[in-house]
Amino acid sequence: MRKIMLLNAKGGCGKSTLTTNLASYYAAQGKAVVIADFDRQGSSMEWLEARPQDRPPIRGIAAWRDSVRVPRSTDYVIMDVPAGTHGPDLTALVRRAQTVIIPVLPSPTDIRAAAHFIHEMLLVGKIVRDETRVAVVANRVRENSSIQNSMESVLNGMNINFSTLNTQIYHNLERFLSRLKIPFVTTLRESQNYLVADARGLGIFDLNRSQVTHDIEQWRPLLKWLDSKRSMPNPVN
Ligand SMILES: Nc1ncnc2c1ncn2[C@@H]1O[C@H](COP(=O)(O)OP(=O)(O)O)[C@@H](O)[C@H]1O
Ligand SMILES: [Mg+2]
Repeated sequence: MRKIMLLNAKGGCGKSTLTTNLASYYAAQGKAVVIADFDRQGSSMEWLEARPQDRPPIRGIAAWRDSVRVPRSTDYVIMDVPAGTHGPDLTALVRRAQTVIIPVLPSPTDIRAAAHFIHEMLLVGKIVRDETRVAVVANRVRENSSIQNSMESVLNGMNINFSTLNTQIYHNLERFLSRLKIPFVTTLRESQNYLVADARGLGIFDLNRSQVTHDIEQWRPLLKWLDSKRSMPNPVN
């Protein structure tokens, strides 16, 4: 059974969005999927309520209230964790997961906060690589906004490549992560598709393919990493 957790002390970075999209992706692959929602705001549970009956079923557990008992036949447990989880609560939660995905928004403040959070999790929470694998995903990265377009043309005029600039936003985080051997697996753009899918109890993988081709491409490295041994803790000897 794969146990994947979406985690970050900051709210609004995409924990619930990544939870519901991963869950619907695996469900569409015919896997038995459970969402354990540890956030009493219950956004993942609300999404499940909106999910149409004719879609592959996903079970939900209100984990902030009920104990997490999943059927043995479960293939994937996706855990959505509330913002503001720190200290012993954080350590206890992380120990439930084999794999932790940390979505990070592309602002300097969010990136600094994420670095602090990862530091806390690994060093204070004594989370070790043998027990839990961690990866970072950049989320809501703006593409093709008019500001970006005009900036891009100014920068191009100065022979500076825009994508280099975008990479530089994350550069410090990347350096910090590579020291810790934590992969920065992918960048997901800011896209209406997430909002459209979310409102209907769906994931982007359920939308019209031509509409989401680019988003799905951005998910591939994450899905591949999750499928690989690299995202699994070492087996206990
Ligand atoms: N890649 C994205 N593109 C557009 N909107 C997004 C994206 N990721 C998240 N959102 C939106 O941002 C808001 C916060 O995301 P959410 O997943 O609820 O964050 P968290 O669970 O970490 O608090 C939601 O309204 C969500 O629909
Ligand atoms: Mg949430």
